[in-house]
Amino acid sequence: MPGQVIDRRQVLGGAAALAGAVALGPPAAASDTLKDRAARRGLFYGAAVQVGRLSSDPAYRAAIIRESAVVVPEWEMKWGALEPSRGKPDFARADALMDFAAENGLEVRGHALVWFRHIPPFLTKDLAPEEWRRAMLSHIERTAGRYRGRMLHWDVVNEALEPKDGRPGGFRKAVFGEILGDIYVDEAFHAAQAADPAAKLYYNDYGLDYTDAESEARRRATLAFVEDRVARKVPVHGLGIQAHLQAGRPFDAERYRRFLKDIAATGVEIALTELDVKDRRLPPDIAQRDRAVADHARAFLDAALDERAVKGVVTWGITDRYSWLSATKGSMRDDGLTVRGLPLDDDMQRKPLWHAIAEAFDHAPSR
Ligand code: XIL
Repeated sequence: MPGQVIDRRQVLGGAAALAGAVALGPPAAASDTLKDRAARRGLFYGAAVQVGRLSSDPAYRAAIIRESAVVVPEWEMKWGALEPSRGKPDFARADALMDFAAENGLEVRGHALVWFRHIPPFLTKDLAPEEWRRAMLSHIERTAGRYRGRMLHWDVVNEALEPKDGRPGGFRKAVFGEILGDIYVDEAFHAAQAADPAAKLYYNDYGLDYTDAESEARRRATLAFVEDRVARKVPVHGLGIQAHLQAGRPFDAERYRRFLKDIAATGVEIALTELDVKDRRLPPDIAQRDRAVADHARAFLDAALDERAVKGVVTWGITDRYSWLSATKGSMRDDGLTVRGLPLDDDMQRKPLWHAIAEAFDHAPSR
């Protein structure tokens, strides 16, 4: 219900008001964290977490609690993780994250109900379309229903668009769409709303940030996608922009601002949901690399946070100790060095990127 949504936003707004009062005096060192710097402008800061590490690595756990107001499961709420065998869902790790968040006063972004990657092994092309549909809808009902009233956001559908595939509407050529028709997206949002009427429901995607023709096509398709859902009253409340950035890639701030403005004009809110910075084109020298990563993120954030529809920033991890960038082909460095794309280094120390994000929050207009 809309009332409940407002209540949640008051929680974050309350934190902002509190932080604003604190900011009148000299800022206490203890409050100088990314979540506080964000809250002073009415924004939120959060991080994706690897749930198992919260208990195995106390320094990591402490860093997450200290810096973030919102947590996102990096893996544990994906369908394949929740239902490794048919009809036997395992919510243990997802529940552990919800408990961790509740104990520490953190909000949770659920991620992600429907994604063509990491689906359970029992979902094969041999299953009839009606079985796919039933499975998708009961997964949404069961998962969003389990955490009803406790989620700030749900990424309901992840990465549904790929204009390169040449399909109408820019939809991706992948399971779900191919089996159920692209209407699966609308069905998923309606099912999520029924299961958890208080959560803000997000569409989340990548590749929206840069100036090349491919990114431009993705922005166009995303805008048309959002406009179309809003016009037909499909409950899409937010656009999640993953923002997996690449240091050294040309970024056109004016073009980006226009895109965000066009999205905001549809009435949906925006969040930067998976921010990190690839550094594979940068030299190995750490000081040089950290500077270039920080400057790149700062230019991007200054443009993005200027748009008041942008409500917050989530980084895809908090420390280089645990970053998918160092473990994923395409973002790993050829020299084998740790990728330095997150706010804390692999020793949990703040890096220039931490300061760039904090200063971008300071520089943002108040919400
Ligand atoms: C990645 C995680 O970081 C990995 O640990 C996992 O193996 C695969 O997924 N876009 C998304 C995220 O929406 O869910 C992905 O996360 C990164 C790209």
